[in-house]
Amino acid sequence: MNKTDHYTAVLREIDIRLEKGGDFIADLSNITAVLKKRLSHADWVGFYFYRDNQLVLGPFQGNPACVYIGDQGVCGTCVQKGETIIVPDVALFPGHIPCDPNSRSEIVVPCYTAAHDIAAVIDMDSNILNAFDDIDRYQLELLSEKLKLLWRRTGYD
Ligand code: SME
Repeated sequence: MNKTDHYTAVLREIDIRLEKGGDFIADLSNITAVLKKRLSHADWVGFYFYRDNQLVLGPFQGNPACVYIGDQGVCGTCVQKGETIIVPDVALFPGHIPCDPNSRSEIVVPCYTAAHDIAAVIDMDSNILNAFDDIDRYQLELLSEKLKLLWRRTGYD
């Protein structure tokens, strides 16, 4: 299976979980578990919620991570720019927040509600340099679109 095939399988699994629904935190936790399990280049996968102009750690898989990161780092830059950020080498990104010293590259994707308010970001880290490309961007942006349903259900929207 190539990377696209893995993402297709991931998104199919996520669709099933979102259709069943039930609990917001449980759904997001399972989504991070599915991503981490299927994608071998992902060493840390998680959500940071955007609340009161601050990013705060949500459900994730991987090593323990920074809880409050304000509007800083790659995640904060993603919120400020309102677009996906791919960092091929975190050592070269000014302001990168090093939660895990083994992290070498990163992708952060914004999650908007249907009303176009920022709800969260999806953050994925890799211990490999230059691990993320346009396939990750495309597929994670698709996931972000699907999550609009979930923000609505939880009253974010
Ligand atoms: N590196 C991120 C912080 C979160 S951790 O990667 C889990 C950043 O610079 O925003």
